[in-house]
Amino acid sequence: MNWNSAFITVSLCGRLASQCFKIRYGLAYCCLRSCQRAPIGQRFASSGKPALRICIVGSGPAGFYTANGLLKGNTECKVDIYDKLPVPYGLVRYGVAPDHPEVKNVINQFSTLAENERCEYVGNVEVGKHISVTELLQAYDVVVLSYGAEADKCLNIPGEELTGVYSARSFVGWYNGLPQDTHLNPDLSGETAVVIGHGNVALDVARILITPTSILKKTDITQHALDALLKSSLKKVYIIGRRGPLQVAFTIKELREMSKLPGCRSELNPLDFEGLQEKLSDLPRARKRLTELMINTAQESPSMSADLSGKAWALKFLCSPVEILPCEKDSGRVGGIRLAVNKLKVVNGKEEAVPTGETEDIPCSLVLRSIGYKSLSLDASVPFDEHRGVIRHSEGRVTEVKGLYCSGWVKRGPTGVILSSLNDGRETAKTILRDLSDGSLDIRGDKQGWDQVAQVLIDRGTRPVSYADWLKIDAEEKARGEKKGKPREKLTSVEEMLHYAFR
Ligand SMILES: Cc1cc2nc3c(=O)[nH]c(=O)nc-3n(C[C@H](O)[C@H](O)[C@H](O)COP(=O)(O)OP(=O)(O)OC[C@H]3O[C@@H](n4cnc5c(N)ncnc54)[C@H](O)[C@@H]3O)c2cc1C
Ligand SMILES: NC(=O)c1ccc[n+]([C@@H]2O[C@H](COP(=O)([O-])OP(=O)(O)OC[C@H]3O[C@@H](n4cnc5c(N)ncnc54)[C@H](OP(=O)(O)O)[C@@H]3O)[C@@H](O)[C@H]2O)c1
Repeated sequence: MNWNSAFITVSLCGRLASQCFKIRYGLAYCCLRSCQRAPIGQRFASSGKPALRICIVGSGPAGFYTANGLLKGNTECKVDIYDKLPVPYGLVRYGVAPDHPEVKNVINQFSTLAENERCEYVGNVEVGKHISVTELLQAYDVVVLSYGAEADKCLNIPGEELTGVYSARSFVGWYNGLPQDTHLNPDLSGETAVVIGHGNVALDVARILITPTSILKKTDITQHALDALLKSSLKKVYIIGRRGPLQVAFTIKELREMSKLPGCRSELNPLDFEGLQEKLSDLPRARKRLTELMINTAQESPSMSADLSGKAWALKFLCSPVEILPCEKDSGRVGGIRLAVNKLKVVNGKEEAVPTGETEDIPCSLVLRSIGYKSLSLDASVPFDEHRGVIRHSEGRVTEVKGLYCSGWVKRGPTGVILSSLNDGRETAKTILRDLSDGSLDIRGDKQGWDQVAQVLIDRGTRPVSYADWLKIDAEEKARGEKKGKPREKLTSVEEMLHYAFR
């Protein structure tokens, strides 16, 4: 009997079959692990001292960096890192653009950590669905929530539901092989796309839309995205911000990449930068360099008489979308976007966009909304600030629930690069270690950790993916990629991942 039939038997034949399954499951799971190292129960009991059992929810940068701080700071602790997907690394795998392979090198640090004797990866377990936070708190001394920000902000304007309007989050998931977005199938048949937002995600999605496929095909972009981009008719991408050049949220490296895209024109209007040259010396260094690059790029932008064939990208400022307009031929599809023209006004010391009353329409067939990600509450037992979209905490400690902590985007909101999660994970780890040393956390050494959770998961028919299982998925992806001259060809369905994980 294979695992699939074991699952079916469990669900069909009730308690008796469930007991058989538990035995088979437990044995096989221990065997699988023993290929790599001692079975989980033995390792956890080996020191003689009561082990401190820590569970981290989310295997993105925040989860791994927090684990690192804890493993270094407490030699008795055992850390289990859970993820809802079979595969680890969060947005490093599913967010970072395929043409930025150097950023993904951070995975080497994380995999070293996952191979640590005192660290365990537990994939394919969704907290809030397969097991609750309350149950985790019963099994572990400490639970750290670092499950990121998996929803996105909406514009809440008419027409946002039209075909051809997508969140940048889904579009990124589509080209990066996130199982839930594999079938997005964005319409790339028109000539003009509009990206809303002036952050780094906006530049990522714009760049992927117009980068030559000869470059993309050597990256780990998914085959379905590459095929669609090969057939794409897109010629121009507008990147639209509601405020001005001094308020953009993207950074210089990403802008420079746009300005150097082979075969693509940069269209920045010099009039948008009037008067900024004089202000440069007053700006902080990073903002000054970024603004200089925009000004220089604008000055080099082609005049109307130049050859305008090929692809292009354009930055537009001081425009807020107010309506997405339907296509004349098909009222269910996007045909354009109406923008309110803004001016800046200082409100509470911050430059805010306020509408002038003028509007402008841009015909387009694709709209990508890139105005930020959003964390959601996982479980009613976790104090959550719905307005800010973060868990309520103090230095990573969820003060209202003993033993509960948080780190990463779900702690500080959906901004910051991978390195920001390093500092953030360190802070949360320090808080936990301080709470342990000053006795605020009462550790009795009677928590069963993974052993307790494993029983619950078996009862619920969920089979976790271990780090050794993930390595099998990893090997399959790399082998598929090698045949195509790319670093990997990602498996894009959970079923397929599990097939290779449990082979
Ligand atoms: C499109 C995009 C591109 C980016 N590119 C870069 C870049 O090039 N360079 C850079 O430095 N930074 C980049 N960043 C920022 C960087 O990815 C983030 O700062 C970082 O990933 C945040 O880490 P995190 O661990 O908080 O969240 P995440 O990386 O999102 O990790 C959260 C993890 O939790 C898991 N999870 C979610 N819900 C559950 C649940 N219920 N149960 C169990 N597990 C769960 C998820 O599957 C995921 O693995 C990018 C971000 C985005 C959105
Ligand atoms: N290469 C990299 O290093 C890389 C790549 C991708 C992402 N990241 C990081 O990941 C984080 C998230 O990036 P992000 O781009 O999603 O978010 P972000 O940096 O917060 O940018 C969001 C953009 O959306 C705009 N916006 C928000 N609400 C809007 C609305 N209602 N209407 C119009 N515009 C609106 C914001 O404008 P306002 O400023 O006016 O609010 C801002 O320009 C960032 O810290 C980013 O640096 C890094």
